Amino acid sequence: MEKKGTGNGVAAMAAYYQSFDPVAYLQYNYTPPRADFERHDSIVPWKLGCLHRAFTEGDVNGELLVDIGSGPTLYQVLSGCELFGKVVLTDFLEVNRRELRRWLQDEEGCSLDWTPYLQHVCKLEGRRPSAWTEKAARLRQVVSDILPIDVHCPQPLAPNALPSAGADCLVSSFCLESVSPDLTTFTRALGHIRGLLRPGGHLLLIGALGESYYLGGPGVKIPVVPLNEAQVCTSLKDSGYTLIRLEVYNLPEDMRVGVDDVSGVFFVKARKE
Ligand SMILES: C[S@@+](CC[C@H](N)C(=O)[O-])C[C@H]1O[C@@H](n2cnc3c(N)ncnc32)[C@H](O)[C@@H]1O
Repeated sequence: MEKKGTGNGVAAMAAYYQSFDPVAYLQYNYTPPRADFERHDSIVPWKLGCLHRAFTEGDVNGELLVDIGSGPTLYQVLSGCELFGKVVLTDFLEVNRRELRRWLQDEEGCSLDWTPYLQHVCKLEGRRPSAWTEKAARLRQVVSDILPIDVHCPQPLAPNALPSAGADCLVSSFCLESVSPDLTTFTRALGHIRGLLRPGGHLLLIGALGESYYLGGPGVKIPVVPLNEAQVCTSLKDSGYTLIRLEVYNLPEDMRVGVDDVSGVFFVKARKE
């Protein structure tokens, strides 16, 4: 992986991530109230609904879907895994890649039960919730790799990690703003991952609005670039994407559970021209 223009800020971000704790992160963000499938205003069902719609509108297609900065989570590919024959997961940290491998290889000791997530997405797809075992099998079948990535490198993945044509679609959730020291670096990272996408391919980007930090574990306060909607739109344009749609979720008071200072979430559907 080629390194370029990495300043102190990027190095400091990498240092924060050495203390990232996947078990705590999953607990903070992927259990109720943030993942309450009985509530329509819970954050995780909102994200799953956006992804379901984006993947079923008919314009997103191809063979290869790549998830940028997967972390220890799988929810972001539960809709896409039905559409794409090959899914590649990526993360900067081996602890996160190991967590993903554990679930994909159906090993003991997974830190989160993804069953309610699988059931919820089956319902969105008009399938019976009991079809979740089929979706789990489908996901395990189509994930072909879990790769190291650094979005601050002009080439974020190892050379030849992807076919030369690039990915047909990228999905990325809560990664770029929470690994970048400032807006310029966030925009540059958007440009770096654009290089992984084929012309005409789609980017589905989920991220935090108005967030200055989140907890990556007990006492692990990770700085985040606080973004607003206008900045997201400008960064996308400046890094060569055409915006198709931006949706915004405002965090209800009781979702503010003391693990970050996020005020909202954006969902973007964009295309590389
Ligand atoms: C806030 S978590 C998001 C995880 C997951 N995508 C989600 O939706 O919850 C940010 C992720 O970015 C990863 N990360 C840290 N530095 C990175 C870098 N330079 N390039 C790519 N990913 C990075 C972290 O390991 C972590 O998994």
